[in-house]
Amino acid sequence: MTSLTSSIQAMRQELGSRVTIVGHHYQDDAVIQHTDLRGDSLELARKVAAVASEHVVFCGVYFMAESAALLARPGQKIHLPEPSAECSMALMSPAPIVEEVMLRLGESGRKIVPLAYVNSTLEVKAVVGKYNGSVCTSANARKMLEWAFSKGDAVLFLPDKNLGANTANLLGIPELERYTLDIRGQGARLDVGAANKARLLLWPGHCSIHTRFTLRQVERLRGEYPGASIVVHPECTPALVAAADAAGSTSFIIRYVAEQPQGATVIIGTEVNLVERLAAEHKGRVKVLPLVESACTHMAQTTEERLSATLQAILAGSDAFVVNAQEELRDNARGALETMLQVCA
Ligand code: 13P
Ligand code: SF4
Repeated sequence: MTSLTSSIQAMRQELGSRVTIVGHHYQDDAVIQHTDLRGDSLELARKVAAVASEHVVFCGVYFMAESAALLARPGQKIHLPEPSAECSMALMSPAPIVEEVMLRLGESGRKIVPLAYVNSTLEVKAVVGKYNGSVCTSANARKMLEWAFSKGDAVLFLPDKNLGANTANLLGIPELERYTLDIRGQGARLDVGAANKARLLLWPGHCSIHTRFTLRQVERLRGEYPGASIVVHPECTPALVAAADAAGSTSFIIRYVAEQPQGATVIIGTEVNLVERLAAEHKGRVKVLPLVESACTHMAQTTEERLSATLQAILAGSDAFVVNAQEELRDNARGALETMLQVCA
């Protein structure tokens, strides 16, 4: 055990039940070993809402801590060990452009329901809430997309065009009924006429960690490991999901590996920390390999050093790492998030 690890343990002991440390599955093992709760985005949103401790340290990226701050109890503080750990996909749909696009799409009189992947900023969640839309995660995108279609004439899915298209495939929505928006020029280039013909409007965002996986890698590994199964995250491209045996959230992938029989080989297309953890956990029972090693540098910004600094700040009574949900955005953003929690209760 390193001295950093033991000093984190000592601080945790001192803080006792005043602090809960939660972590997303993409965190490094060095950080994960300190967590009380782990999960995919949906599980963490639910679990954090039920946590009663005064302080929650969120080992993940900014939008996750921000969502936790929205659901926090009065007086409860949500800390993010590295406040600059932003999910790059979440930054691909700036709120002013989303608002502009919603206004222009609404001019036709059609009711457009915005559905934001939880990997989005608080500002975007507030715009979505204002237009009576909601939020989804990779674990409930199918159910939430069905919900959104039941509430209006068309759905604007943002920011991940791949999760949107993969979910549309599950619902059997034909390609002809989908349209990927051109948001260049702050939305000025939007072809409203073309958008008006579609039922599913996709924002052109993506996750650069999951779009590193290619069909060529699938072909190569299928050749090297005949009989292996391939499971990927739905942020991968639709072509990749079609070439895989299964696709789902990080927790789905964990369950998928756990359900494999002795001697199976599973190739995984998601963030490498999770793949390596699964390989270690199932060593000798199931062979687990990455499709290719793809690391999320945003998740990697949270380290034991940052966690230690956060616990020191809490002990010193400092709010240096606290993430707050801006008051003026709170009601709309919280409404969007709570709709998801109610629909998927
Ligand atoms: P999950 O909700 O599947 O854990 O995914 C979160 C994420 O950021 C994937 O890139
Ligand atoms: Fe964001 Fe992709 Fe990293 Fe997930 S893996 S946090 S979507 S950049």
